[in-house]
Amino acid sequence: MRLLIKNIGTLAGILPANMLCLRGKEMNSAEVLTDAFLIAEDGVIVRYGKMEEMGEVEADEVIDGEGRVVFPAFCDSHSHIVYAGSREGEFRDKIAGMTYEEVAARGGGILNSADRLAEASEEELYEAAERRAWRMIRSGAATLEIKSGYGLTMETELKMLRVIRRLQENLPATIKATFLGAHAVARDFKGRQAEYVESVCREMIPAVAEQGIAEFVDVFCDRGFFTPEETAKILECGERYGLRPKIHANELASSGGVQVGIQYGALSVDHLEEANEQDVMDLAASTTIPTVLPGASFFSNLPFAPARAMIDAGLPVAIASDCNPGSSPSGNMMFLWSLGCIKMRLTPEEALSALTINGAAALGLSADRGAISVGRRADLVVSKPVPSLAYLPYSFGEELVESVIIGGKIV
Ligand code: NIG
Ligand code: FE
Repeated sequence: MRLLIKNIGTLAGILPANMLCLRGKEMNSAEVLTDAFLIAEDGVIVRYGKMEEMGEVEADEVIDGEGRVVFPAFCDSHSHIVYAGSREGEFRDKIAGMTYEEVAARGGGILNSADRLAEASEEELYEAAERRAWRMIRSGAATLEIKSGYGLTMETELKMLRVIRRLQENLPATIKATFLGAHAVARDFKGRQAEYVESVCREMIPAVAEQGIAEFVDVFCDRGFFTPEETAKILECGERYGLRPKIHANELASSGGVQVGIQYGALSVDHLEEANEQDVMDLAASTTIPTVLPGASFFSNLPFAPARAMIDAGLPVAIASDCNPGSSPSGNMMFLWSLGCIKMRLTPEEALSALTINGAAALGLSADRGAISVGRRADLVVSKPVPSLAYLPYSFGEELVESVIIGGKIV
């Protein structure tokens, strides 16, 4: 099966095949071609270049890219899209002035979603998650990470992970599963946090590993949730069972999450709204990817993570959606591109790198996706006709994705 996209107005996100993530200034450096073509065979990019060099090409499917931008599909490395119900009641409370922590302390927040998830059938959960995943794909995502963490018991955490496995089997996107048993202390363990951590380590992680149903382990390491010491325990246990860490850190306070993540070789530390200079310096000396979640800052009225300062310090920043019912109920990748530019002061090119190659790197998948290179997967977005690349994040809220191509096929 050969796909040809010809007359492409702007082909963006071109990188050498061996480039696995972009740090600091490199985030602005992906090559761009105008009046270009791209050929994919059996789902893999085999050739691209300027139209004048194309010559005769026969293809099974031809797309005319006239006036359009073609760029690598987004890799969303952090989401929580398996959940039951919604939380617009808390939305009202937040508008009235309550903070995320106050809502949680009152028994709302994650525990509110856990109550609803316990009642939902696996089928209901699957159907709702599938609809959300398709919305994210339609907004340009071809790779998604999805976390558990609204179960908080062994049975319900496994139920969530089975839903993620079904999404992996049925959807065209690549989906990676993360076990987030330590998202909050389950209601039944109220006042017995150490025992809950024990149960995550002794019961849940071994069961998750035995079923081979998740690849990563996550902990909400933050003020009011899990401490760095508890996080270390869980990550150590995850390591023994072959689960690589990707953790929530420094959303509510700079509380040691970044350092414990780095210490246990986390692939990424995510959120970082409260990251300080020391956190940035420690990240600069590590291979851990700082992942920022501008949708959560926007929706929850939190500070935006200092992504500009991180890039200026040479870090490989990734942007992800955090799509979840409490702090960021949208998985619209194009809107995140706008937020990265508008609220974090990234250039359109830097934000695109953060959403593509660096997002793929935050999942350990950047060898075969996240950029236009010969040999990488043909996971692509074709925009509607637009004047330039920068128009895409500039015209926020406009529906600008015309088609999404995953593995060389229009989905
Ligand atoms: O990434 N911060 C922790 N977890 C989610 C929110 C979960 C929720 O409120 O349901 C997040 O923002
Ligand atoms: Fe999250």
